Amino acid sequence: MAGGPGLELPSPSLPLFLLLLLAAVTGHTAAQDNCTCPTNKMTTCSQDGPGGRCQCRALGSDFEVNCSTLTSKCLLLKARMRSHKSGRKLVRPSEHALVDNDGLYDPECDHEGRFKARQCNQTSVCWCVNSVGVRRTDKGDLNLRCDELVRTHHILIDLRHRPSSGSFNHSDLDAELRRLFRERYRLHPRFLAAVHYEQPTIQIELRQNASQKAPGDVDIADAAYYFERDVKGESLFQGRQGLDVNVHGKPLLVERTLIYYLDEKPPQFSMKRLTSGLIAVIVVVVAAIVAGVVVLVISNRRKTGKYKKVEIKELGELRKQPSL
Ligand SMILES: *[C@@H]1O[C@H](CO)[C@@H](O)[C@H](O)[C@H]1NC(C)=O
Ligand SMILES: *[C@@H]1O[C@H](CO)[C@@H](O)[C@H](O)[C@H]1NC(C)=O
Ligand SMILES: *[C@@H]1O[C@H](CO)[C@@H](O)[C@H](O)[C@H]1NC(C)=O
Ligand SMILES: *[C@@H]1O[C@H](CO)[C@@H](O)[C@H](O)[C@H]1NC(C)=O
Ligand SMILES: *[C@@H]1O[C@H](CO)[C@@H](O)[C@H](O)[C@H]1NC(C)=O
Repeated sequence: MAGGPGLELPSPSLPLFLLLLLAAVTGHTAAQDNCTCPTNKMTTCSQDGPGGRCQCRALGSDFEVNCSTLTSKCLLLKARMRSHKSGRKLVRPSEHALVDNDGLYDPECDHEGRFKARQCNQTSVCWCVNSVGVRRTDKGDLNLRCDELVRTHHILIDLRHRPSSGSFNHSDLDAELRRLFRERYRLHPRFLAAVHYEQPTIQIELRQNASQKAPGDVDIADAAYYFERDVKGESLFQGRQGLDVNVHGKPLLVERTLIYYLDEKPPQFSMKRLTSGLIAVIVVVVAAIVAGVVVLVISNRRKTGKYKKVEIKELGELRKQPSL
């Protein structure tokens, strides 16, 4: 009695099995159709890869990007310039972001997507940059030589949170920021050297020299750039808007951001008003959350190892002097 219906089972279950298989296949295809790059909004993706694999290319360069890690800052700047030109709003621009200057140029990237040591204008103006793409020499003509790409091995991110947030617990804040850099920016924890806090200022120190960086390791330049864009409410991650960090349920609202870049070699500027080797170069502007980002290049004084700021320009000055 039980055997009868039991024997009948295979025939109805075979189409059922096929149906399930079909569903699985279409489900799979649907998932594949949803072919986007989680770590970079500024890409176009399609199933052109081997075996119909989802493959994503950076806008502006057509460079194939690896969507399981960060895209290099050079390619991101290139994509940003492209999207500005075409007027497409690929990344929600913040209402207040108006300023394009030295920090926003259409860079030349090498075969790995890194900045080329020498960058030139469409005209014949050239200058040398460091590994974060910031100018570190005077401008010259096409004869200017940049022998090597000088590495930015220390990045200090200086944030001020809203005073109304009150005070954060330092160890909780530290843990939360370390988690952010590890999980969201995929930066190996050993490159986040320290988190300092004295209300309302938070400092994040990233350190990574060439010998410490293994193949496949995220570069601190890229992690810092993704962070900067998050702070400005222009997240590069799919499905994100900006920085949404909570410390014990209390949101971290950033008011102002300064980013200091320290190169392995002192920058080479001849401007007399600056003491040797020290300069500030401004890059960016206002965020959705009212954060001005000032970018500085500084070199450390060998003996003390301390920073010395010579020039910081903020938003107001920037307008008067757009090209540094
Ligand atoms: C497709 O992408 C969207 C947004 O990135 C995501 O919410 C959704 O879960 C994805 N669907 C599939 C089937 O992967
Ligand atoms: C690049 O050239 C344009 C003119 O073509 C000039 O306005 C701009 O300031 C130059 N940018 C830099 C960074 O030299
Ligand atoms: C901060 O939080 C840690 C645990 O997360 C706790 O051990 C410590 O006492 C707290 N410090 C203060 C000052 O509240
Ligand atoms: C790299 O950093 C480590 C630790 O900070 C340091 O000991 C080492 O000398 C550095 N190497 C170079 C080549 O600067
Ligand atoms: C993409 O990046 C991940 C993480 O760095 C790495 O494991 C993987 O091998 C990379 N894939 C390709 C195709 O380079």
